[in-house]
Amino acid sequence: MISVCASPNIAFIKYWGKVFSNSDHTRNIGVNASLSMTLNNAKTFVDLEASTTGAHQIWIEGTIASATDNQKIIDHIARIEDHFKNSHPQGAGFLHIRSRNNFPHSAGIASSASAFCALTIAICAAVIGKEQTQTLLDTQPEVISMLARRGSGSAARSVCGGYMLWQGWHAIKIAVDWPLRDTIVILSKSSKTISSSEGHARALTSRHFAERLNHLPERTTALQRALKSRNLHELGALLEAEALEMHMIAETSVPPVHYLSPDSRKVIGAIQALPQRNFYFTVDAGPNLHIISESSVTQTLQTLLKDLQLEAEIWEDGLGTGPTLE
Ligand code: PMV
Repeated sequence: MISVCASPNIAFIKYWGKVFSNSDHTRNIGVNASLSMTLNNAKTFVDLEASTTGAHQIWIEGTIASATDNQKIIDHIARIEDHFKNSHPQGAGFLHIRSRNNFPHSAGIASSASAFCALTIAICAAVIGKEQTQTLLDTQPEVISMLARRGSGSAARSVCGGYMLWQGWHAIKIAVDWPLRDTIVILSKSSKTISSSEGHARALTSRHFAERLNHLPERTTALQRALKSRNLHELGALLEAEALEMHMIAETSVPPVHYLSPDSRKVIGAIQALPQRNFYFTVDAGPNLHIISESSVTQTLQTLLKDLQLEAEIWEDGLGTGPTLE
């Protein structure tokens, strides 16, 4: 039995827009470099058993995977077998895979990142063995990152823990030791109507996209500097500018994509109107907000939500150390 646990990550610099690819090797490559913080409490658990007969069987959250999810995972098994075909031509065998999350679905926590990170590690272990997979994770994590990326782009940034910078084929861990917190304000649990894949494709049609690409390298460098010097105010200003810009790109895409809800805008407005604060927001492709801080802000957020007469669930998280393989 192979058991893997991996956490999602929250992007500080967003992956929004993919390079066109007509090969599986160059699938899901971001047009720009992106940077993220790995979470700790939110986790995907994957258990895998291999047998020499039968067929692949995949369960997600205790039920048989949908035809679409099943196909995505079978394709992922095939690409990992292909990657190791010279050293391990026998492949993975027939896999029984069970995947589950400990966090609510559609909560603004990217389950595809943790799921594809955990699946990649578990499938690698089925093909090349646990010990060799652990060695790869310890000494050449870029190989696992590259494979995870081909399953789901942002999964490339979940393989090492800490803060990760992804550019091109794989992500690398950056040397920052700052245990930030991420308090997630869940305003809605409805699934998004436009998938992030569709959002990535449309991003390139925004008239502001070229300008974003022009100034992003500078923002990415400044953000790394803020992380390294633990400058929360500088980091916060960059975080918010980046999140709002990603949504501006989505909203000016053709046709436009609207991920923020009126409630998300209310909370953002109330946060930005505070005369002084030690927490900053970011938002992925959905309406729920990630509040980044150094110490607990749950009480402050609860008061703010109460004043706005908004119902929300709160998920407390923070910097995580990366996947485990047993
Ligand atoms: O990995 P995908 O295709 O689900 O894209 C993720 C996109 C964002 O979450 C919005 C940003 C990011 O960098 O994670």
